[in-house]
Amino acid sequence: MNLDQITSVSGEFDKDLSSVIVLKELEELRIKYLSRNGIVSGLFEKLKDVPKEEKPAVGNKLNALRNYITENFNLAKIKLEEKGSAGKQSIDLTLPGTQRQIGSKHILTQTVDEIKSIFKGMGFSTFEGPELESDYYNFEALNFAPDHPARDMQDTFFISKDFLLRTHTSPVQVRVMKNYKPPIRAIMPGRVYRSEAVNARSYCMFHQVEGLVIDTDITFAELKGTLVFFAKQFYGNDLKYRFRASFFPFTEPSAEMDITCYICGGKGCKICKYTGWLEILGCGMVDPNVLINCGIDPEKYTGYAFGMGIERTAMLKYNVQDIRLFFENDFRFLKQF
Ligand code: DAH
Repeated sequence: MNLDQITSVSGEFDKDLSSVIVLKELEELRIKYLSRNGIVSGLFEKLKDVPKEEKPAVGNKLNALRNYITENFNLAKIKLEEKGSAGKQSIDLTLPGTQRQIGSKHILTQTVDEIKSIFKGMGFSTFEGPELESDYYNFEALNFAPDHPARDMQDTFFISKDFLLRTHTSPVQVRVMKNYKPPIRAIMPGRVYRSEAVNARSYCMFHQVEGLVIDTDITFAELKGTLVFFAKQFYGNDLKYRFRASFFPFTEPSAEMDITCYICGGKGCKICKYTGWLEILGCGMVDPNVLINCGIDPEKYTGYAFGMGIERTAMLKYNVQDIRLFFENDFRFLKQF
C-alpha cells in the first residue's frame, strides 16, 4: 500500500457519494467504506506491511481518509434526512395550483333577469306568489268554473280536494289585484307544475312569467305595443310577429303571439312544425268576471294580461333542443351560457 492508493480510494468515495439519491444507497456506501470489513479497515490492516520509515506518512494519510469519509458520510446523511421530511410535512410551492371552477347564474335565472329588466324599463314591478295554491286562486277566481273543460288543458297535481301545485303563474294576478289598487303594472315570475309525461318538449315542472296591467282606458293596442316591444328587445329588432285569436277563461278576447321561426326564418322546418311560426306567449284583455272576482270595477277599469314559459323562451332564443337539460345541472350544458 502506498499514498497513491489512498488517494484513489478517496476519489472513488467521492464518485460513489455523488450518485447517492436515497438513504438506503448511503447506508450501502457506509458498509462499503466504513464497516469492519470495509475498504478503510482493510487499508488499516495493510499498514503493518508498510516499511517502517513510510509508516508515519501513510498512517497520517489513512487517518485523514477515514475522517474525510466519515465527515462527508454524516453530512450527506443529514441532508438526505432533511429532504425526506420536507416532502412529508411542508408544501411544495413550485407545484401548479388547482383551478377552481367559477360558478355563474343558471341560464333560466339569466333569462328571467333579462325579461324582468325589459319590463322594468316599461314601468313594471315584480311580484311573486306561492307554489302551493288553492283551487280558488289557480282556477275559480280566474273564471274556470268547477266543471269547466279548460281545466283539462292543465294536468294538475292535486295535494287535496282544494289545494294543488299551481299549474300557471296566473293565480298571482288574482293575489295582486286583491291586494293592490289600480293602476297595476306588474310581472310575476315563478315555478309551475303539470302532471305531464317528461320528454324533450315537456317537463313536470317549469317556469313562467305572468304580466298584468290594470288601469282606466287600457286597450288591446297597448297590449300589442308592449308585447311587440318586449319581443324585439328580447329576440332582436328585425323579428316578424303575428297575433292569433285564442282562448283562455280569464281573458276576453284572447290571443297567442307568434314570432318567425329562428331556424328556418319562416320557410318552415321541423322546429316550427313547417308553419314558419313559433308561439311565444298567451295574452288577452282581462275578463270582466276576473276583475269582479278580485274586487275591481270593470265599468271603471280595463286591463290586459299575458303569460310565457321561461324554458320555452330560452329554448327558442338559444336553440336548446331538450327541456330536460335545464334541470340536469350538467356542467357541459351550463357553462355554455
Ligand atoms: N296561464 C296561461 C297558461 O299557462 C298563459 C296565459 C295566457 C297567461 C294568457 C295569461 C294570459 O295571463 O292572458 O297557459
